[in-house]
Amino acid sequence: MSTHGKPKSGAAIDALELLKADHEKVKSLFREFESLCDNAEDDDERKFELVDDICYELTVHSMIEEEIFYPVLRSLIDDDQLLDEAEVEHAGARDLISQLEVMYPGDDHFDAMVTVLGEEMAHHIDKEESDLFVAARRSGIDLDNLGERLSARKDELDDDLSSPPSPVDAMEPHNGARRTPRPPNE
Ligand SMILES: [Fe+2]
Repeated sequence: MSTHGKPKSGAAIDALELLKADHEKVKSLFREFESLCDNAEDDDERKFELVDDICYELTVHSMIEEEIFYPVLRSLIDDDQLLDEAEVEHAGARDLISQLEVMYPGDDHFDAMVTVLGEEMAHHIDKEESDLFVAARRSGIDLDNLGERLSARKDELDDDLSSPPSPVDAMEPHNGARRTPRPPNE
């Protein structure tokens, strides 16, 4: 059974620790997916759950970064190029995610697309943690306050995306919400 979200608590959390925890979570999901592929295990059910979790986690994570973290950094550091590149990398991930959202294990290129998404995210995460996190620390911003804002928005998105879609929402192509597995033989 796939799970997501995090326990809600009132404890302060450093913004960079929160984002790093997201990175570690998604990297471990990709690692598990790759180990299924390496061992030639056709555990389609587990692959489906993993990719569902990966798409969900990346969607929420990139939203809190684009809505809060990147604009704050953009106003504090003099390096638009760095943030532009991060946003372009997110757009690339969104594109792959929107394709994966309508695919299922066993479909053509399914494993390859997950692998490429994992490689692109590994590169993105490395750059973010080395360049953006360093710039954020140097800027002197209150990271606990920023962490609270990120955490609050994440909770909101978890609530929004976890609730079953209304009949109207269900007709939208991709809203980040959970989907139900395709029945066998379709
Ligand atoms: Fe990111």
